[in-house]
Amino acid sequence: MDAKKYLEEAQVDAILIYNGSNEDLNFYYFTRLLYGGIFEGSFAVITEDGVKVITSKLEEQSARKGKNEVFVYSSSSEREELLKKIVGNAERIGLNYDSLSLRDFHKLRDILGDREYVNVAEKIMEWRMVKDDEELNLMREAAKIASEVADSIPDFLVEGMREYELAARIAYEMFKMGAEDVAFTSIVAFGENAAEPHYLSGERKLKRGDFVLCDFGARYHHYNSDITRTFVFGRASEEQREIYYTVLEAQKLGISLVKDGAHGSEIDARVKELIDSTKYKGRMIHSTGHGLGLAVHDHVGLSTQRDLVLREGMVVTVEPGIYLPGYGGVRIEDDVLVRKEGREVLTSARKDELIEA
Ligand code: GLY
Ligand code: MN
Ligand code: MN
Repeated sequence: MDAKKYLEEAQVDAILIYNGSNEDLNFYYFTRLLYGGIFEGSFAVITEDGVKVITSKLEEQSARKGKNEVFVYSSSSEREELLKKIVGNAERIGLNYDSLSLRDFHKLRDILGDREYVNVAEKIMEWRMVKDDEELNLMREAAKIASEVADSIPDFLVEGMREYELAARIAYEMFKMGAEDVAFTSIVAFGENAAEPHYLSGERKLKRGDFVLCDFGARYHHYNSDITRTFVFGRASEEQREIYYTVLEAQKLGISLVKDGAHGSEIDARVKELIDSTKYKGRMIHSTGHGLGLAVHDHVGLSTQRDLVLREGMVVTVEPGIYLPGYGGVRIEDDVLVRKEGREVLTSARKDELIEA
């Protein structure tokens, strides 16, 4: 979409994105400066004639590799002058209220004076939800890195290792494959710790018969993947197998329902219905999935709490789980691109058989 169209749809004269006290991921969305540079304290200004970047000398070289007009400052007063000049006499200014700190807002208002400031956060998220080819290619690579590492996890398991050691190994392997960062702090949970969906890796040592739940992702040029695989270290019990295959069936059902026009809330309901029809009724304690992109929890996804009509180009996770406190749990998660006729699963790690490592 061109700059004019953005402004028309948001009904503003300019959109001002400040990568200030808080990192604003929209800065990368509009500028596509995805291949280098931190851009701390930088502005992206969307005006009728394009996206303009105001940045410091620290990332001038990176900024000039992009397609935007670049303005470089060497002092804060120069930055303010540039901002005033570029915003010009725009009256209605769109801001991202979800990221801009109150302090930064006051600072901006001091510089630009009394104008009409409008929250365009939701509008931008609407645009961000549908990914274009450049974004999808980066997400495919992020998914490939995480998938290959997920497939190698059984080879990394050693009796007595601690959860944080496995988390470190997963991160190391992803960096070695070109990830610029982990997408989020990895969740590595052994045994009973797998019963907590948002557990963080700790000191628990790996024992025979443990569940090994690994939920992690790669960040590749600002775009994320998010995958979960659950294994058993040693021989699995009947109960462990039953939990695993119940989750697998629910996850496959969820994936099969993803397509253009489907309602996220219905997919969540159908997945939970399946789990609730087994002896694990009520043990799936989160929604089926979320949107994925520049942020890991990018936007609403597959949830009965808030509906989303899926559209071609959106990427959502499908990640049902069963959690039994004191015993353990299983989650299986993939990243799924919505297609006109169906879907493309971006993550590819093995899951069809419970792996006894
Ligand atoms: N890492 C949390 C999630 O899968 O959403
Ligand atoms: Mn995850
Ligand atoms: Mn997820």
